[in-house]
Amino acid sequence: MKRFGIKSWILIMILVVTVFFIVQWKFKDSSRLHSKIETTTNNNKKVKIFAATKFFSDVSETIDSYMKICSKEIQGYCEILHDELDFQNADAVLFHAKDYERHTSQWMFENRNPKIPYVVWTMESPMLEQNFPDFMNLTMSYDRKADIYWPYGNIRKKQKIEDNPKSFEDIWKKKKKSDESAAEIIWMVSNCITPNRRMEIVEKIKTLGMKIDIFGGCGMKPKKCEKKTTMDCEVNLVSTYKFYMAIENAYCEDYITEKFWINARDRFAVPIILGKQIYLDAGIPEKAFIALDDFKNLDEFKSFIDNLAENKTKYMEFHEWRKEYEMDDIFWNHNYTPEILNNYGLCKLCQNLKSGKYSNNFTNVYPTLIGKWHKRSDCNNSIGYRFLKKFY
Ligand SMILES: *[C@@H]1O[C@H](CO)[C@@H](O)[C@H](O)[C@H]1NC(C)=O
Ligand SMILES: *[C@@H]1O[C@H](CO)[C@@H](O)[C@H](O)[C@H]1NC(C)=O
Ligand SMILES: *[C@@H]1O[C@H](CO)[C@@H](O)[C@H](O)[C@H]1NC(C)=O
Ligand SMILES: *[C@@H]1O[C@H](CO)[C@@H](O)[C@H](O)[C@H]1NC(C)=O
Repeated sequence: MKRFGIKSWILIMILVVTVFFIVQWKFKDSSRLHSKIETTTNNNKKVKIFAATKFFSDVSETIDSYMKICSKEIQGYCEILHDELDFQNADAVLFHAKDYERHTSQWMFENRNPKIPYVVWTMESPMLEQNFPDFMNLTMSYDRKADIYWPYGNIRKKQKIEDNPKSFEDIWKKKKKSDESAAEIIWMVSNCITPNRRMEIVEKIKTLGMKIDIFGGCGMKPKKCEKKTTMDCEVNLVSTYKFYMAIENAYCEDYITEKFWINARDRFAVPIILGKQIYLDAGIPEKAFIALDDFKNLDEFKSFIDNLAENKTKYMEFHEWRKEYEMDDIFWNHNYTPEILNNYGLCKLCQNLKSGKYSNNFTNVYPTLIGKWHKRSDCNNSIGYRFLKKFY
């Protein structure tokens, strides 16, 4: 008994209390450590997108290549999966509508996790897109009504007006014709029969005596680009023409493809288009293109172009927009600007998946692709038919 005197009891009490606090502190620390690990894992969470289809029947690598336009940060955490074994680990399943075949995708619908959004991706107009009969949760498209907007291009006001963004003298010099009778208009086209009958309209313009050099599947092979139509070759070829026939294969809301943006922006060829409303809706100034529907008939159009091609001052007015505006080529991306491109398409999808935008209580259902949001009534392909009447 003597050994366990008051002093000893006090000592034991101090010991017990100390141990208690040490344990408490340790526990707290470890829980802090634990939560720290958890948040880091969350920040380091990889986003995985399962590619359910190819992209235009290309090798699967093509979808990955669209990731290259995103910032390094996004590329660091976002991954495209192709192996069927990875299907279970996906945070989203991505279908390119044109490549969708029901029989090969059936298993993905039978083994569907309702928490994982199925994304349908279309860059085709509702006229040429196949319908998509299975239930999707998200849409990705050039169509502004899509959940994830991915336009082919974009125009924005410069922060400051530039007086001489590009030497207008240089642009004009490049437009030298090989001889007086050479064409001023170029068209690269491979889709000859379209609902808006653009080929017939162009043929009609030619019958009026206007020269138009047509290359591609519906025309000649460019001499210099015979082996392979490389981008550089096209740029050089088109840059020597004053105008580019940029009529889309269908006239539909928001449907302005790379042929407009690239030729205007990089090739300095003024685009000739069919109906101007969708271009104005996209914020493109009126003097950045020439719209066929502005003319009473094709004769008027021809004399306008003939006159414009000869008058440097007047022609250059169609390049004035360059002082005030900047065009972004978003889909083909010849200018690498992730801070802009991050806002669109796959880059945006990755960010939304990462931030948990589609987790928890998210539900969204599209029963078909050519449905309420991507609809044929967004198109008016008869807009140029009046030019095709025999007598006008
Ligand atoms: C060329 O166009 C400018 C601007 O529209 C005009 O003032 C001028 O008279 C035109 N020149 C000729 C030779 O037609
Ligand atoms: C989930 O969404 C439904 C329908 O919008 C809503 O009624 C419900 O309160 C939501 N639940 C949570 C946990 O947010
Ligand atoms: C996706 O659509 C399916 C089919 O309609 C639905 O069952 C599921 O809840 C939806 N999931 C999300 C994340 O929207
Ligand atoms: C389509 O365009 C033509 C020609 O501009 C016009 O007459 C017609 O009303 C338009 N149709 C629709 C459905 O908007």
